[in-house]
Amino acid sequence: MTKKRNFNRTRSQSWDAVAHWYSGWSGRDGSHYHRTLAVPLLLELLELKAGERFADLGCGHGILAPPVAELGTRYVGVDLAPRLIAEARRHHVRHGRFLVGDVTCLPEHRLLTTGAFDTAAFLLSIQDINPLEEALEEAARLLRPGGRLAMVMLHPCFRIPRQSGWGWDEGRGLRFRRLDSYLSRLAVPMQAHGQGTTQSYHRPLGDYVTALNAAGLAVTGIKEVADLTGEQNGRADKRAAREFPLFLGLKAVKLG
Ligand SMILES: C[S@@+](CC[C@H](N)C(=O)[O-])C[C@H]1O[C@@H](n2cnc3c(N)ncnc32)[C@H](O)[C@@H]1O
Repeated sequence: MTKKRNFNRTRSQSWDAVAHWYSGWSGRDGSHYHRTLAVPLLLELLELKAGERFADLGCGHGILAPPVAELGTRYVGVDLAPRLIAEARRHHVRHGRFLVGDVTCLPEHRLLTTGAFDTAAFLLSIQDINPLEEALEEAARLLRPGGRLAMVMLHPCFRIPRQSGWGWDEGRGLRFRRLDSYLSRLAVPMQAHGQGTTQSYHRPLGDYVTALNAAGLAVTGIKEVADLTGEQNGRADKRAAREFPLFLGLKAVKLG
């Protein structure tokens, strides 16, 4: 009960304090997981076309800008962290435009007008953003009728911060996934390698679909992706990695 009250009260925070660590750790082109799983999944869901206008919500230091620009799509990234936006401009200025802003309450800007975008996305950012409903309402407002939204996140059914992990069943020789809670909404402080704290939000899967629908966005696809790129040792670990997805992708269309 207490956790739920905290969850409802908390608003998402900028990653400014950890910007240096995050941009260094993930690199200009994104981390191993960005490059091998998350970005390919997002691009598959979005089906971007040349000439389309695309909004990257919670864009961080802009790792999505180069692959989007390469498709001939016009990119605008928005993030709450001025240092990450400065880093994005430093590396990717020829790939798009970058703005400081809160995606739950977007600033007035000529690039962020109602219906200005064909597509929008949250790449590994939606679980750091609260309130969810306000972020999705703003995303829907940016899209034209028929516009597409995609989001990629750590799978909320299996990767719950501090409430899930791997276990070993000695008798069956089985690596299993353990969940300690799922339906409770949680605001979880995360330590960024001693560089500061960020806040992550766990919500059950139904919350995402409910909030999308409430914002006038109809879900059109879902894809769950396992991490087959790691170096799992032994059959039991390989099987577990294949069985329990790391990322969830959702796509939706704005109703006319
Ligand atoms: C895990 S990082 C992901 C960044 C980027 N999409 C990537 O994949 O590298 C989450 C980002 O969400 C941003 N963020 C959190 N709350 C936000 C809000 N209300 N509006 C805009 N950005 C926000 C943080 O500043 C941070 O850069």
